[in-house]
Parts: sequence; C-alpha cells; structure tokens
Amino acid sequence: MVRTQVAIVGAGPAGLLLGQLLHKEGIDTLLLERRSADYVAGRIRAGVLEPGTVSVLEKAGVAARLHAEGLVHGGVEIGFRGHRHRIDLQALTGRSVTVYGQTEVTRDLMDARAASGAPSVYEAEDVTLLEVTGPAPTVRYRHEGKVHEVACDFIAGCDGFHGVSRRTIPSASLSVYERVYPFGWLGVLADIPPPWEELIYANSDQGFALASMRSTTRVRCYVQCPLEDHIDQWSDERFWTEFRRRLGGEVAARVPDAPSIEKSIAPLRSFVAEPLKYGRLFLAGDAAHIVPPTGAKGLNLAASDVFYLSEALRDFYRASGAGQSGGEAERALDGYSVRALRRIWRAERFSWWMTRQLHQFPGDAFDGKLQHTELEYLFDSRAAQVSMAENYVGLPL
Ligand code: APR
Ligand code: PHB
Repeated sequence: MVRTQVAIVGAGPAGLLLGQLLHKEGIDTLLLERRSADYVAGRIRAGVLEPGTVSVLEKAGVAARLHAEGLVHGGVEIGFRGHRHRIDLQALTGRSVTVYGQTEVTRDLMDARAASGAPSVYEAEDVTLLEVTGPAPTVRYRHEGKVHEVACDFIAGCDGFHGVSRRTIPSASLSVYERVYPFGWLGVLADIPPPWEELIYANSDQGFALASMRSTTRVRCYVQCPLEDHIDQWSDERFWTEFRRRLGGEVAARVPDAPSIEKSIAPLRSFVAEPLKYGRLFLAGDAAHIVPPTGAKGLNLAASDVFYLSEALRDFYRASGAGQSGGEAERALDGYSVRALRRIWRAERFSWWMTRQLHQFPGDAFDGKLQHTELEYLFDSRAAQVSMAENYVGLPL
C-alpha cells in the first residue's frame, strides 16, 4: 500500500494550494482528482483576489505571473438609477484587489505542483474515504481499471460542493445552514478590451448586472436571470441588449455585440457545513461552504481555509515530532475549524448582503424600499462605505 502524510481529495484551487503550502512545510501529499487535468485547467470561474489571498499565493511560491499580469483595482463601482457610485477601496482601507482569473491561478498551481514532483492522480474514480475516525485513515480509488489504497495520517476534503468528503460525514455529526436564491447568473466571456475601468455592480429595475474583466483584452459579464432559463434562450445579441439596458448610461453605449467564447448559467446559494473536522478528515473550500458570487468571495475563502489548515497540520507535525504530548498536537488540529468558520461566516454575511442589495427579488414592496434605502445610505455615508470596502478587500486572515 502507498503511504502519504496528507491525502488531498480534489484538485481545484483549494486542493492545489493546500498541496503547495504543505510542500513548503516539507509535508508529503497525494492529490486525487476525479476529472482530467485539461478539464480542471479549462474551467471558467471568478477572478477577484483579496490582498490576503495574494499573500497566501506568494507564500506558496505561485505569485510571479499574478504580479506580472494581474490588474490592480483600487475601487469598484455600483450602478443605481442611472448613476455610478465609486467605492474607493484604496482610500477607504489602504488596500486594493487584484483582477486575475481563477483559471490562471489554477494553471500556476498545477505548474508548481508538477515542478515540485509531488504526486497527483487525475481521473481517479470512486474515491472512498475509510477509517476516518481512527488513527490510520485510508483512501481507496480506481485508476485505469485498477483499485489502489493509500494509507495516510490525514485526509483533506477539497472536492467541492458535490464531492465525496462531506458526504462521508454522518449527518448527525454535521450542521448545515443554507439559503437558495430565487434566480441565477447568466455569464458571458468575450474577447474585447473592457469598456469600463473598474468592475461595475449594477442594480437596475430589470435585475442585476455585473461588468467584470479578466485582462486588458477580455471581459466577463453577467445578468441576473430566472433559474428556469436555459442558455439556448440567450443568443449573444439578446445577452448584450439586456446587459446594456441594465448597465445604462454612457458606458453601456460603448459595449459592442461581442461574440461569446463561453456562456453559462449558475444558481446562487449560501451554504455552510460545520464543523470542518471529523476525526482525521478536514473540509476546506467549496466542500464546506458556498457563497453567492456577488462579493467574489468563493476563491478567497478557499485560500484562507487552506492557509489555516496548512498551519494546523504544520503545528501538528512540529508538536508530534518534538515529542510533545498527544494533547498539544491534537489541539493544533482542533483549532482549524473554529478559526476558519469565523472568517467563513463573515464572508457569508457580506456575500448575502451584497446579493440582497443588488438583485431584484420577487414580492415584498417593503423589502424593495429597504434595499433602495440601504444603497442610498451607502452612497451618502463614509462609515457605510468603509464597512463595504473592508469586507470587499477581505477581512484579515
Ligand atoms: N473525487 C475526487 N475529486 C473530486 C470528487 C471526488 N469524488 N468530487 C469532486 N472532485 C473534484 C472536482 O472535480 C474539482 O476539481 O474536486 C475539485 C473541487 O474544486 P472546486 O469545485 O473548484 O472547489 P475548491 O477547490 O474548493 O475551490 C473553490 O472554486 O468553485 C469555485 O466558487 C468556487 O471560487 C471558489 C473555488
Ligand atoms: C468575475 O469576474 O467573474 C466576477 C467578478 C466579481 C464578482 C463575481 C464574479 O463579484
């Protein structure tokens, strides 16, 4: 049987970044991923990095291209009733965000893992976690028709919302908190220079729209849409017409009918499962929580989770290597869940708040009035802007 210190399930940003952070600490990992490497590298996801995430990527040794190619944004804009209101992140918090696609982060991490020589198995089927509450957990999987077993000290469940890790934990040992929103986001990727300087989050009577970008030659744009919609109902022309209508003003006039290179619809959900530790299994990233994309927190939370987890595992191995009592080493592990959940819930709160203030919700006129009041308060109050800005750039790790 093969042996490793930490078996990591899932090679999304959480699993890959954890692998690099542990590698820097001299801890061995084996990475098991259900999909092919090409599939993982090709997925289109969000693209706004908090400064704290950039620091973690630096610590992992994967920030060179990000610093060379990422776009530093000192503000974001909110569109409402024909006006754009700038939230000056830099002036309000002294910090900025970096626009750099998750696809690029994933590629940098995959390259770093290949260079480190740490083993990865892509297209690992039927991953099964065994004996997770005992001292010697095992991971079983099938690869190219053969069954393999890996003995390990710990399992990191970084396998996303639909993965096997969270499902391995008995429901009586897990509390789940969830909110599903009554709409989705239709996203389009297109190769045009962005006709806007910074991201614009627009609240309009027709629904939410977001003008984002990936680089100086590529835009990513979204419109709020009914959950039942299918992308076949959204020709490029219909998308851009609707997007321009919601964005409004002179910036909309500069948006062409660019051909889409990717188009997809995603539902919006808030979800947290806790605690993040069950025996020798830890959950991190989308396996443990989902945020609606409105605050751009998904990737950033995955980064803070695995940063905390890498520190907990490092402290465990240090304490046990130094011959300290089992209690000392175990305490290092127990701290992970509490530390990560504190930050997760704050990001959940902020993502819910952004979602609530910017979308059209069915029904209640009172809620609609409160939403408009909340936005006007934000535009008028420096205190409210500081609150939004410090959350948008990310609370301290
Ligand atoms: N066995 C092995 N791998 C699995 C399994 C399984 N049973 N189930 C899922 N996976 C893999 C998926 O194929 C995927 O590559 O786990 C990986 C999880 O990656 P992500 O879904 O990207 O989740 P995470 O790494 O936590 O990243 C969070 O990515 O999904 C976005 O919005 C999210 O930005 C956030 C970030
Ligand atoms: C994106 O560029 O895909 C993006 C940016 C900001 C968000 C969500 C998505 O809040």
